Amino acid sequence: MSAQPHFDARDYRKALGHFPTGVAVITALDVHGARVGMTVNSFVSVSLSPPIILWCIARSTPSYLAFARANYFAVNILAHGQQALSNRFARPSDDKFAGVPCRRGLDGVPLIEGCAAHLECSLHERHVVGDHDIIFGHVQQFTCAGAEPLAFAMSGYGRVVAEAA
Ligand SMILES: Cc1cc2nc3c(=O)[nH]c(=O)nc-3n(C[C@H](O)[C@H](O)[C@H](O)COP(=O)(O)O)c2cc1C
Repeated sequence: MSAQPHFDARDYRKALGHFPTGVAVITALDVHGARVGMTVNSFVSVSLSPPIILWCIARSTPSYLAFARANYFAVNILAHGQQALSNRFARPSDDKFAGVPCRRGLDGVPLIEGCAAHLECSLHERHVVGDHDIIFGHVQQFTCAGAEPLAFAMSGYGRVVAEAA
């Protein structure tokens, strides 16, 4: 095992924040059938054929066990204007879904209304890496509303503005 580099964790996070991403809420059902959801920006498309995606979850987070055991999950890609949803699903709470319009997707997994896109996935693989797990999903079906996506960079939300080439 290589030695731990010595640098300030806050400075490191600040540097990582200079890589802009989108924002998604991952949803699933726990073993009792209760809905779970959490905001992530670690979503990545890995393979197109087969369609494999990944996201990362901190093992210290309260919803970890529910997501680690879920055989199906959905990636709800947030649209610009859904910042409040992103904040709601980024805090521990017993009822994150209260008042959030949803429909049921594959295996009953909640799909949040009004998102830019939904990817419904079966669990492909899970890898433990450092203090996170990487969860790979096999996309079984998707929808795309074509709305402007919500962007995230340097600890803040923004929008994607295309520049002339
Ligand atoms: C924009 C944004 C992106 C985030 N990305 C991740 C992520 O990729 N993985 C992760 O484990 N937590 C991420 N978080 C933090 C979780 O959303 C937060 O810890 C949440 O409370 C987890 O849900 P839980 O408390 O029900 O476990 C992110 C938070 C925000 C605001």
